[in-house]
Amino acid sequence: MNKNSENTSWWKRFMKSMTKAHDLGTEEDILLDHDYDGIKELDNVLPPWWLAGFYITIAISIFYLIMVFGFGKYSQYDELNDEMATAKEEIEAYKAANPQLFDDANIVAFTDAENLAKGKELFTSKTCVVCHLADLGGSIGPNLTDNKWILGGDVKSIFNVLTNGGRPGKGMIAWESTVTREERIQLASYIISMQGTTPAVPKPAEGDIVWPAE
Ligand code: HEC
Repeated sequence: MNKNSENTSWWKRFMKSMTKAHDLGTEEDILLDHDYDGIKELDNVLPPWWLAGFYITIAISIFYLIMVFGFGKYSQYDELNDEMATAKEEIEAYKAANPQLFDDANIVAFTDAENLAKGKELFTSKTCVVCHLADLGGSIGPNLTDNKWILGGDVKSIFNVLTNGGRPGKGMIAWESTVTREERIQLASYIISMQGTTPAVPKPAEGDIVWPAE
């Protein structure tokens, strides 16, 4: 036997063990005895290479089930909780780095012409005029030029009303999602700047908070 034929027989033996193929010419041994319109069937065994792959997928599925649904760091719930915790930390860090965006105690009314003009423009463009009128005299909403306030007339109170809305059911919605923080301060500043002006048809004063406080 030369080297080549040795190799061939090794390879052949390997292929045979992997496929368990039935030897050619002896199909009679495994021929099933039924016959469908002339089509016959051989009773071959499942090839070991294929079976091995099948068993491996079963083993992987058990491993996967335990790791993903059971314990282990691949648990989807743990992953979600980790991400939520990270997000919370990032939000806190952002708040800490930008306190002026979140701390209402820092709000100061603008007094410069530019910001007040912007506030006036917003009062129209954000539809405040519909309920409070262009001269702030009041219609559905209260008069904003007198010194009587339902919810408070200082810049923080007004800002708070714009952010969170008035009392439930009164018609003054929360504007937090549609008017930016900066714009809400500009609006509040404009309203404060209109204190003491005389509207064409002023609505009778509402509310018992007097501002500026006496
Ligand atoms: C749909 C009508 C409506 C619109 C639009 C509206 N408001 Fe009001 N607003 C009201 C009503 C009604 C109240 C009274 C709320 C209450 O009694 O709790 C009110 C209350 C207020 C107050 C508090 C007044 C007080 O006496 O404490 C301020 C300030 C105010 N609105 C500003 C605005 C601004 C600025 C806008 C536009 C971004 C606006 N409103 C849009 C109806 C409206």
